[in-house]
Amino acid sequence: MTVHFIGAGPGAADLLTLRGRDLIAASPVCLYAGSLVPEGVLAHCPKGCQIVNTAAMSLDAIIDAIQAANAQGLDVARLHSGDVSIWSAMGEQLRRLRALAIPYDVTPGVPSFAASAAALGVELTLPGLAQSVILTRTSGRASAMPEGETLAAFAATGATLAIHLSVHALAQVVAELGPFYGQDCPVAVVWRATWPDQRSVRATLGTIVQAVGPEIDRTALILVGRTLAAEGFDESRLYADDYDRRYRPRGTDPRFPE
Ligand SMILES: C[S@@+](CC[C@H](N)C(=O)[O-])C[C@H]1O[C@@H](n2cnc3c(N)ncnc32)[C@H](O)[C@@H]1O
Repeated sequence: MTVHFIGAGPGAADLLTLRGRDLIAASPVCLYAGSLVPEGVLAHCPKGCQIVNTAAMSLDAIIDAIQAANAQGLDVARLHSGDVSIWSAMGEQLRRLRALAIPYDVTPGVPSFAASAAALGVELTLPGLAQSVILTRTSGRASAMPEGETLAAFAATGATLAIHLSVHALAQVVAELGPFYGQDCPVAVVWRATWPDQRSVRATLGTIVQAVGPEIDRTALILVGRTLAAEGFDESRLYADDYDRRYRPRGTDPRFPE
């Protein structure tokens, strides 16, 4: 018996890895994390599968359900939205499973920051503008931010920011970032990336709050950085015609001779 932790992707049912799909199809029990995991993904569950929405369950109740499956020797597909390595509460479940000696494995999924960048048709790292992406959030009721992980500290790097779980605090986010990125810095908010009702707004730090208005859906990502609306960036040297590289030696003394 194994508990398969599976990243169920950002919303669209076909943005699931083949491995994830096959593990779901082979598991007679499926525990899925509430509203963010789409019905289309659950359609891969086998006939007669016990499908449980864990949105209203405590950690103890979730572990009880896993132990019950374990007692019957039934594999469990445990689905979380996006990728399981960020804000999935997988860590605490794995710790309990280790203590109970229940075997598990982990299958990654498409994270919402990547789905949002795809929705906008942008690359978040562009030569000369930003070569780092910071995945972060603001403090919530359930999780305070550790000291030092402030928006100001991240903004001081000038990296592209992907700010999760924070669209309700958009005005505060904008106020904190303005001094570092400038009011003309491009910002995008993407709601429910890859769902049928996906929506996005592109603006600047100076205009985004007004552009978004009183949006009610909280499943949204805030992206901030010069890469979001850049045309005047350098081309990568990797594809430059005179760039000497392993698969395309150039010059009289190539670094990687054929
Ligand atoms: C609990 S976190 C889960 C993150 C997820 N594990 C991931 O890999 O993206 C939920 C937050 O992720 C972001 N999010 C998740 N799905 C999204 C989507 N389809 N479109 C935009 N943002 C999304 C939002 O910021 C939301 O508040």
